[in-house]
Amino acid sequence: MESWFGRGLILWYKKNKRDLPWRHETDAYKIWLSEIILQQTQVVQGMGYYLRFIQKYPQVSQLAAANEDEVLKLWQGLGYYSRARNLHATAKVINSQYKGLFPTNYEDIRALKGIGDYTAAAISSFAYNLPFAVVDGNVYRILSRLFGIDTPIDSGQGKKEFQVLATQLLDKKEPALYNQAIMEFGSQYCKPTKPDCENCIFNAKCFAFKAARVSELPVKAKKTKVSNRFLNYVVLIDKNNKIYLNKRSANDIWKGLYEFYLIESEKEISSLQLLKHSKLKQMAGQKFSLLYTSKSYKHILSHQHLFAKFYVIKTESILDKKQTKTGVDNLTDFAFSRLSEKFINDCDLKEIV
Ligand code: ADE
Repeated sequence: MESWFGRGLILWYKKNKRDLPWRHETDAYKIWLSEIILQQTQVVQGMGYYLRFIQKYPQVSQLAAANEDEVLKLWQGLGYYSRARNLHATAKVINSQYKGLFPTNYEDIRALKGIGDYTAAAISSFAYNLPFAVVDGNVYRILSRLFGIDTPIDSGQGKKEFQVLATQLLDKKEPALYNQAIMEFGSQYCKPTKPDCENCIFNAKCFAFKAARVSELPVKAKKTKVSNRFLNYVVLIDKNNKIYLNKRSANDIWKGLYEFYLIESEKEISSLQLLKHSKLKQMAGQKFSLLYTSKSYKHILSHQHLFAKFYVIKTESILDKKQTKTGVDNLTDFAFSRLSEKFINDCDLKEIV
């Protein structure tokens, strides 16, 4: 069905594709890495991460043998750190259960932790040329606009409907090429905002273009709920100039990353309120001095808006003796969130301490 679509797409792709390193790959491990990274970021930014990962861990066995802190450090800045932890856990499974060889069929690939329908289809097609259609944001956009489908893409019904249509449209003889082509077309032409409809090879057939409804499609049912959080970070330094660090362990944002002593509040608090806070006394004792207060940082995640301030506080001794501590010079050995990293880069801690 609709072979005009697949044919047009592949012809367009052959002429217009970008030369990206993972497009020369049929090694499922490297394709997997590239896809997980590209779920997090744009191609331009993802490229550096991809190259650093494959340089450090050229084979799945090397990623499996790495320690988690090291993997998180390499992932630093990409966000959604559970993806990096799943990547690492899955590398260990492939190494032990599959003797280091990536599984070669869709079902086994799909069963791996952190690999959903999209990633399983991408790996199966790009590495093994198996006929599984990818359905990502690009595909939802193209199909909803071209065929005028207004079923919400975040509903069970919508997911099914688009998957069925994508599978019908897939070029079963050239699934790898077709899948690359549809994603490339979505990212270069049929973009979320300002799509290049005037120059689109499908505009004569496009429902949304002809009906002037391009900006209305695809439809999403739910609005994402956003919550505000207020993070008061205390850069707590003892008399030996060691800084308190916490490794986040709760099932929350940034699990596995390091941070300064965190006092979270329901709403914004003043520096005076912070200095009187019982949690500060718990860790710094009664005698401490405030050396520096940062500006406010706003950091936006998909479901949370974070408002953060950093306070550099010197104390005689840090009361939690078991806690990880580090000197200022070694701070960059630890993986921090991008938010904390911004502060570390903005503020010359060596000067202040
Ligand atoms: N985004 C997700 N996967 C991609 C790929 N293989 N090439 C380019 N962009 C992508």
